[in-house]
Amino acid sequence: MAKMEVKTSLLDNMIGVGDMVLLEPLSEDSFINNLKKRFDHSEIYTYIGSVVVSINPYRPLPIYSPEKVEEYRNRNFYELSPHIFSLSDEAYRSLRDQDKDQCILITGESGAGKTEASKLVMSYVAAVCGKGAEVNQVKEQLLQSNPVLEAFGNAKTVRNDNSSRFGKYMDIEFDFKGDPLGGVISNYLLEKSRVVKQPRGERNFHIFYQILSGASEDMLNKLKLERDFSRYNYLSLDSARVNGVDDAVNFRTVRNAMQIVGFMDHETQSILEVVAAVLKLGNIEFKPESRVNGLDESKIKDKNELKEICELTGIDQSVLERAFSFRTVEAKQEKVSTTLNVAQAYYARDALAKNLYSRLFSWLVTRINESIKAQTKVRKKVMGVLDIYGFEIFEDNSFEQFIINYCNEKLQQIFIELTLKEEQEEYIREDIEWTHIEYFNNAIICDLIENNQTGILAMLDEECLRPGTVTDDTFLEKLNQVCATHQHFESRMSKCSRFLNDTSLPHSCFRIQHYAGKVMYQVEGFVDKNNDLLYRDLSQAMWKANHSLIKALFPEGNPAKINLKRPPTAGSQFKASVATLMKNLQTKNPNYIRCIKPNDKKAAHIFNEALVCHQVRYLGLLENVRVRRAGYAFRQPYELCLERYKMLCKQTWPHWRGPARAGVEVLFNELEIPEEEYSFGRSKIFIRNPRTLFKLEDLRKQRLEDLATLIQKMYRGWKCRTHFLLMKRSQIVIASWCRRYAQQKKYQRIKSSAIVVQSYIRGWKARKLLRELKHQKRCKEAATTIAAYWHGTQVRREYRKFFRANAGRKIYEFTLQKIMQKYFLEMKNKMPSLSPVDKNWPARPYLFLDSTHKELKRIFHLWRCKKYRDQFTDQQKLIYEEKLEASELFKDKKALYPASVGQPFHGAYLEISKNPKYKKLKDAVEEKIIIAEVVNKINRANGKCASRIFLLTKNNVLLADQKSGHIKSEVPLGDVTKVSMSSQNDGFFAVHLKEGSGAAGKGDFLFSSDHLIEMATKLYRTTLSQTKQKLNIEISDEFLVQFKQDKVCVKFIQGNQKNGNIPTCKRKNNRLLEVAVP
Ligand SMILES: Nc1ncnc2c1ncn2[C@@H]1O[C@H](COP(=O)(O)OP(=O)(O)O)[C@@H](O)[C@H]1O
Ligand SMILES: [Mg+2]
Repeated sequence: MAKMEVKTSLLDNMIGVGDMVLLEPLSEDSFINNLKKRFDHSEIYTYIGSVVVSINPYRPLPIYSPEKVEEYRNRNFYELSPHIFSLSDEAYRSLRDQDKDQCILITGESGAGKTEASKLVMSYVAAVCGKGAEVNQVKEQLLQSNPVLEAFGNAKTVRNDNSSRFGKYMDIEFDFKGDPLGGVISNYLLEKSRVVKQPRGERNFHIFYQILSGASEDMLNKLKLERDFSRYNYLSLDSARVNGVDDAVNFRTVRNAMQIVGFMDHETQSILEVVAAVLKLGNIEFKPESRVNGLDESKIKDKNELKEICELTGIDQSVLERAFSFRTVEAKQEKVSTTLNVAQAYYARDALAKNLYSRLFSWLVTRINESIKAQTKVRKKVMGVLDIYGFEIFEDNSFEQFIINYCNEKLQQIFIELTLKEEQEEYIREDIEWTHIEYFNNAIICDLIENNQTGILAMLDEECLRPGTVTDDTFLEKLNQVCATHQHFESRMSKCSRFLNDTSLPHSCFRIQHYAGKVMYQVEGFVDKNNDLLYRDLSQAMWKANHSLIKALFPEGNPAKINLKRPPTAGSQFKASVATLMKNLQTKNPNYIRCIKPNDKKAAHIFNEALVCHQVRYLGLLENVRVRRAGYAFRQPYELCLERYKMLCKQTWPHWRGPARAGVEVLFNELEIPEEEYSFGRSKIFIRNPRTLFKLEDLRKQRLEDLATLIQKMYRGWKCRTHFLLMKRSQIVIASWCRRYAQQKKYQRIKSSAIVVQSYIRGWKARKLLRELKHQKRCKEAATTIAAYWHGTQVRREYRKFFRANAGRKIYEFTLQKIMQKYFLEMKNKMPSLSPVDKNWPARPYLFLDSTHKELKRIFHLWRCKKYRDQFTDQQKLIYEEKLEASELFKDKKALYPASVGQPFHGAYLEISKNPKYKKLKDAVEEKIIIAEVVNKINRANGKCASRIFLLTKNNVLLADQKSGHIKSEVPLGDVTKVSMSSQNDGFFAVHLKEGSGAAGKGDFLFSSDHLIEMATKLYRTTLSQTKQKLNIEISDEFLVQFKQDKVCVKFIQGNQKNGNIPTCKRKNNRLLEVAVP
């Protein structure tokens, strides 16, 4: 979106009047009052047309910020409130866009803010012109030249803590794009007398204090200086320090600036050496020494200082010493050497110091110019900034004030010329009739001063060059003769007797009526200062110095270039430079900044009317306004004028479609502005009187208020209406919702009532129907029942004759019989096998036969078992008895048992009778052998196994060697008390013997056999049949055995068994024997 440009004008928010041209009525009082009013509101800038009047605020104001720069950038001069930026912008833009060289002339008395203003202009231009590394460097160099020049050329005065003691004109050069290229600085008339003497309360040039405060010890030693200010005669002591100024910091700033500007280190060093030498010169003192001819000759009191100066500057000490004592005058090929008295010596010393310093300063300017010089040869546009002393009117005015005021007179001249010329040109451009205006032209005063024959300066030169005794009085006499008749020259002694009785004018003075006021000059010192004499011996001594800078400062000391002609006087030099300056300025478009000092105290907020009035007078500001108002006070392009006032006329408001000029014509006719009050130019309307403008402004203000009211009215109306409409719409919405809600509620209520009524009716109807149906159904049922009974009765009545009374019981029995018959027949067919172990049994067909069926099954089983048993022979019976016995003894007690069930009990596994090996054994046993089997006997001591033949007869248990059949032990069955074994799946067993029996000598036997169950059973049965006692069989995994005297615990543990069922035994100790079983 395009930015809406806000059209503002100087006339907006005006405090007093922003442009003095519009001041009504115009008088000195109203002028001062307007300035005061604005000053009190921190408006320090006021225009006189395009001239900016600036009042020093003596305090930082927030009006120079980058934002302000942006605000004023590219705006029209009268668009915003008066500001120095506006003037700078105008100047810069017409330089850049219209190719007009500019000069900015800043005038005002000391402390009025000229230097600050010049810096503001430069910084504004620097801020708005092109950017880029190279451009920035140029800008920086231009800006940094200021601190350098200020250090050497500024001093604290009673008026200004940072007063420039030289005039400065700086040309800033730009290329066609408006980028800065470089600059040239010209300096005018440094106040060199300050080097050797300062008025009370003032200081010497800043640089002296800066060196002493800011230089390092090392540097001070090199410069042969001491830090203490009081050591130096040239530094007045009463104001060595300035409030708010840190000389040491400033010294660093200056050195930094010098570096940026481009001073080499050795150059800086040389400069500081010269400054040191000047300072030390002041400490050289002289004493009178009587000479033969009766005259006093001066001698240096203490040569130490002189020695140091010479060391510092490379001057031959004797040469310099001589130059302070003698003076050589050359006249007509004759050299006459005269001695100097003490006063002359001091004069010479001070002259040397002043010359050294002022020449150094000029050299500095030249050197800076070398650095900031534009590097290209292309055509340049130039903006000159002139910061020069304004009119000075003191109690005692001397040569310097005369020169300065002359300069201002010239500036006024050029101002009049240029302003009027510009005014005239504008009138011609705009095709307005030019009426002659009365104003004071100060050309006549300039002539009084600078006329080549009769001018005061010319006369002063003449007097200085004249042979014979020349004094200030002879000069005044001459003036009295030549200028007596001049209107602007006043003197008591002039031929013209006008001032004979004017006691305010002393005899040794003359007075000039400058355009800005009368100034009285003391004639004393004019000749001397104009001569500006430096003894040739001194300049020659300087030229001989072994110091390139000093040598360069005194070229006239070179004997080869000896020039008997006197150097140009100060006055003529100045006249020449002013002439050059004027020529320069005349080629440029001037912009004026007139600085005014509001008070003498350097204080903020104080506006001393008398002081300001004085300045307004001598700056000729009222003249300024008059000249500006000569024809028409105010002018404005038609477009802007129409834009600003179009609301005052119905035809032009709110839009004028035709050309702007016609619009303005219509507007002015409508407003009935008298015709003599304005003129139509080509592009601008010219208003003769500010009154008219103010009338327009008042009308506009009034109209704006009306318009504001109108806008307010419309807006309020619109706002209320919108609000009302909104409320109305809202009301409708709310109402509709309310109604809807109410209707919904009502509907729901009706609906639910309807449903209730409906449901009642339906319920009633349904119940009625149900009752009816139920009644019908009951009727039907009743009918059926009645019919059934009826039929029953009928049938029974018919069939009664066929019924028997006990037929039912018979049928029942018959049926039962039939069922039983069928059951048994089916049983017969389904009969299971006769094997006693066959578990099959047919399913039960009827529930009521359950117990019968179970009983039949039991009987059948018993019967077939009997059948089975009946088949056995006696032998088989015996075997089964034995098996039965085994079952009783071991079933569910010993894990080995189930495996033994299927094995037949052979008993005599070893057929002893058939094996001839055992014939002897056979013979030894007469009884019947029940068991003959090989067992493993476990050694009681170590648990190892040994095979033995185990024989059981009716009465004994025998153990025999397996190989030889030799009987090893014989135990009668009566001595066997117990057999112990584990519950596991092993064949290990112990045979316990009765204590004290014959066989029990070694203790109980431990065996392992594959037929443990059979052997134990047979042992049990045999013992029972022989002794009628039941053998105790203990089944336990831990039991005790008796070995000789020891009771040993046999403990069974689970172990990995490799050799089948045979357990491995281990005698752990005499109490424990472990048997590992599978
Ligand atoms: N625009 C300003 N804003 C703030 N202070 C200012 C302004 N102009 C001048 N001053 C103050 O006044 C003092 C003197 O100003 P200066 O420019 O050195 O005067 P001049 O050059 O006219 O002798 C400055 O040191 C500064 O303190
Ligand atoms: Mg200054």
